[in-house]
Amino acid sequence: MQNNISLHVVANYNELSEKAAELFANAVKLNPTGVYGFATGGTPEGMYEKLTKMSAAKELDMTQITAFNLDEYVPISPSSPQSYAYFMAKNLFDATGVPSQNRNIPKGDAPCPHEESAAYEKKIAACGGIRLQILGIGTNGHIGFNEPSDTFQGQTSYVELAEETILANSRYFDNQDDVPRHAISMGMQTIMMAETLLLLASGETKAEAIRGALVGPITPKVPASVLQLHRNVIVIADKAAAKFL
Ligand code: GLP
Repeated sequence: MQNNISLHVVANYNELSEKAAELFANAVKLNPTGVYGFATGGTPEGMYEKLTKMSAAKELDMTQITAFNLDEYVPISPSSPQSYAYFMAKNLFDATGVPSQNRNIPKGDAPCPHEESAAYEKKIAACGGIRLQILGIGTNGHIGFNEPSDTFQGQTSYVELAEETILANSRYFDNQDDVPRHAISMGMQTIMMAETLLLLASGETKAEAIRGALVGPITPKVPASVLQLHRNVIVIADKAAAKFL
């Protein structure tokens, strides 16, 4: 494995959440007004729960950070319980007091998703870029909603979801047909510009994607494999997700 990647293999999901929360909290303590990138999905939920507890215990102050999320479904209303805007409010932002004007998530109900994508990209740049970006990984090696393709997705764009992703994410919807087919996602170039990347993976279903991401050939067929070219990637994986490393 490349030496720009620092891999921490932990016993289980709870240890993963603890380590990720501790690392993130330390970054915020060093830079309480910094710009941080957030991910959604089941993987960071435990980490967010721990950050919420730290904040309640006054061990962490997130009230001055600026947040940018990786992605959002299209079309979806931010008030829909399946939206990533709702997920972030419920799982982290409300309880930790991240001010609403500092919460940036692509608008899933914007009149033009292409314009929304371009504006989002500009806003990240205007805020000086992302200091620490949290990432999960899809079973197909996607990051955000950058799906396997013939080319790497550059900047924030309006994208189409892969069938595998629709199936994986259908657990959050009443039925598979309700899963939006599109999204706005930061591109791999946007993600690669963050100072530090924190990639989290838990469970055997992620083992193949993690192998492809960290030690496989760099290819847009496994979007996460481009992380091998980033200067500072921290990976926290439980034993099950790291079993092919
Ligand atoms: C979703 C999100 C990704 C997330 C991935 C894995 O499609 N767009 O940002 O990393 O799925 O999700 P989970 O953590 O639930 O496995």
